[in-house]
Order: sequence, then C-alpha cells, then structure tokens
Amino acid sequence: MSVKVGTLVLFGATGDLAHRMLFPSLYNLHMDGLLADTLTIVGSGRSQMDCAAFQAQVRAALTEHLPGDRVEAPVVETFLQRIDYCAVDAGKGTGYDDLAALLGPRMDQPVGVYLSTPPSMFGPIAQGLAAAGIACAECRIAMEKPIGHDLASSREVNEQVGSAFAEDHIFRIDHYLGKETVQNLLALRFANMLFEPLWNARAIDHVQITVAETVGLEGRVSYYDGVGALKDMVQNHMLQLLAIIAMEPPANVGSTAVRDEKVKLLRSLRKMTAEDVKAHSVKGQYTAGAVNGEAVAGYADELGRPSNTETFVALKAFIDNWRWKGVPFYLRTGKRMPRRQSEVLIQFKPVPHNIFARVGAPKLDANVMIINLQPEENIRVKVMAKQPGLDREGVKLREVNLDVSLSHSFAGERRRIAYERLLLDFIEGEQTLFVRRDEVEAQWQWIDSIRDAWAAVDMVPQSYTAGSWGPSSAIALIERDGASWHD
Ligand code: BG6
Repeated sequence: MSVKVGTLVLFGATGDLAHRMLFPSLYNLHMDGLLADTLTIVGSGRSQMDCAAFQAQVRAALTEHLPGDRVEAPVVETFLQRIDYCAVDAGKGTGYDDLAALLGPRMDQPVGVYLSTPPSMFGPIAQGLAAAGIACAECRIAMEKPIGHDLASSREVNEQVGSAFAEDHIFRIDHYLGKETVQNLLALRFANMLFEPLWNARAIDHVQITVAETVGLEGRVSYYDGVGALKDMVQNHMLQLLAIIAMEPPANVGSTAVRDEKVKLLRSLRKMTAEDVKAHSVKGQYTAGAVNGEAVAGYADELGRPSNTETFVALKAFIDNWRWKGVPFYLRTGKRMPRRQSEVLIQFKPVPHNIFARVGAPKLDANVMIINLQPEENIRVKVMAKQPGLDREGVKLREVNLDVSLSHSFAGERRRIAYERLLLDFIEGEQTLFVRRDEVEAQWQWIDSIRDAWAAVDMVPQSYTAGSWGPSSAIALIERDGASWHD
C-alpha cells in the first residue's frame, strides 16, 4: 500500500473543473470523514490572491455546485480550514519557489499534485516542480486528459512528465473510470458465471457502444474546435469502455493486472486504412435544430465561422484476436443528440436451430443485453418467452425483458461524483482506475490510424440536424450489416 499524500496541490484551482467537480468532490470526502485530518489542500492558479479570497471562491463554488442538503455551514468552514493558496504562473515558470517554501515543513510527507490545466502545461509543470524540489520519490502527479493530440505528442508529454515522476507515481485521469456504472462492468463480467462463457465471437453477433450528449459547445469553443469528437470522446472514454467490455479476465483487480489486459485489447484493435475508412466511419457536425423542445444553433453558428471539426463520429471497429474474430464493435458518440444516453448493447446470435419453426414461430428474436450507464443505471436482457395459451393455432413466442434497475436495487446509496473516487484513490496511491502510459499510447495509435485515413481520403463531416441521431450515413454504416442502432 502506498503512503497517503499529506498535501494535495491543485493546479488550475480557479478553473471551471475545479469549481464544478474537484472542490465539491473533496468536500464530500471531507464531510464523510474520508480525508485525514492532517491533509492540506493548496490551490494554485496564475492570479495573485490571498488565502481568504481563494477560500471565498471555494465557498461560492460549493454552494453553487453541490445539492443544498450537502452544504452544511460548519462543515464548509472546517473544510476551508484545510485550504491554502499559492500563485504559480506555469507559463512564465514563476512561483515554484513560493510553492516550495509553503510546502517546506510539509515535505516530510508525500505531495500529490493534481493538474487541471491546459494539457500543454503538463510537461513544463512537472519539470518546474522537479527543479523546485517538489517531485520527491514518494510525490505523485495526476493529469486530466488529453495527453497529447496524437501518438508522437503524447509520447513527448509522457517523456517530459516521466523525467520528473516515475510511472507508478503518474495518475492519468479518465473520469469515466471513476463512474460507478463503468466499474460495475467489471463486476457484471467477472463476478457472474452467467455471461463469460458466451462473451465471444461464437455467441455474440455485434456490440454497440453509444455515448450521446444533448449539450453543444457550452462555451468550450476554443478548446473543442480543431479537437472534435474522435479525440475528445473516442480516444479516451469510449476506448476505455470498449477495453473493459472486451478485455480478457484479469487475474485480480490490481492496477497491473487490469491495465495489462486493457493494453492487450487496445493493441488488438485493427487499424483503419484509407481503403476501409469510408465504409467504417462517419463524421458529422450538427446544424441548427431542436433538443428537448428547445431551438438550438448549429455548430458553425456557435463558432462564428465554418469548420471541419466533427461533433459526431460513428465507427465500425474490429478486434483482431481469438475471442472477437469477425465481431463488429459499432461506436457512436455525438453532441446535440436527442437525449443523453450512454449504453453498451450486446447483440447475441440466434439459436442454432429453431424447434418452434413448424408450430407457428418461424422467427425467433436473438437475445440482446443492454447495459445503460447513464443517466439511468440498469441492465436489461431481452429473452424469448411463450405467450400463455393452449396453442391450438400455433405457439406464440414473444420477447420479454429481464430487467435489473441498479438505482432501485441500491436505492438509498448516495451516487458519488466520479472525481470523489478518483481523488481518494490518488491521495491513497491506488492506480487501477488511472490510465497507464502504454494504454494512452495504444489508444493514440488506433486514433491516429483513423485520422490519417480521414486525411488520405479528405473526409469532411456530414451535417445532421441538432436533436437527431447523427447523419443518415451513420445509420447506413450499421444497416449495411443487417443491424440497427438501438435508439
Ligand atoms: C469530457 C469531454 O471528457 O467528457 C466533454 O471533454 C464531454 O466534451 C464529457 O461532454 C462527458 O462527460 P459525462 O461525464 O458528462 O458523460
């Protein structure tokens, strides 16, 4: 077991993520007695301000972003007592000595530095910390995504950070791994005997993974344009979901075993080529439309100019290994979809022989398993059942649902913010839910193959109306194979 950090330093502490997620999560952990009394949190940003001014910002953020029943004034005050502030301008490379002086007496315990900054700052900050003596042997660093924008740049960032911190002290964040529902995929697959014997090309026809959002740019134009859905969602969150759904059983849930299996899986993804990219991928961009009954502008209007950035992507992926030989994995993600819906669908093959064919049921629907990740958390398996009756005019079979509502089964348990789990694991040094260097690089390798193929054939996004399920070619992508998206 690693030593817990004694001080948590948050770079980007005045930013949106810190206000919306990180401080509310830390507060929840504090309220539940999960943080050591001695843990200090040092916020850091470019602006000069004193500790009281920063604490006032945090107080306002907690009130704004936590449910009213969680905000208890005395608890807020004891939480704020943990918090200090130190200005560091990572761009100019100034302020590290002040930070080192502030941490000075506390450096007998490991420091955990959490970077919620523009990704271009990850390398320089790691090196600034090392030069100021804040990268001790037990110190650790956490980074938000993205790590680079392609394989070459991600290697560069990994090298820079790696020159200051050892890999087992680097925590790359993918907040999907902090989601209870994503962790539950491991339990579903590996704590039940029911599914694993069927989890392969012999029994499964195809898999669909959908992450649909209703939001548009939400003031993130400067980040999002030029990035697009492939790099923003597929490279990280969707590939993590895919890896967990498709990997071989790890020997245990330790960080090495789980991440070894994910890397093997990611490396088995078949690279896209210029020959197959048109048939196996679709890029889209939303135009004006309506979502949840409200009129919304198109992407180019929000941006103020035309752009080739995709806000939707659909892919047909193959995993070249024994288990998944020939099984298509259809991935789809987009902004301004009709509803927020993240789900995994496992389409099983039909039974090998239909014994009811001659007695009135010539066609049996194959089983389907739908794992809803958000906003609802449930698992449904569609099975065939006999409709009650004497069957004088033939047997009638009908599809029925085996339905498990997880929110119902675990009613009363507070659903934690994904960052609560990730921050606590970071503080305690537990790496299973963080992305290892070879994982990130394997993800980029596959993504780069798609981007190169797109460039080779000059692929441009096709438009789709905001509030629809993407361009019609995304529907054709799967229907050509005789399947259809589950909407
Ligand atoms: C982020 C992406 O990583 O994930 C955003 O940058 C996206 O564009 C978000 O909206 C989705 O996360 P969640 O938890 O709302 O599904």
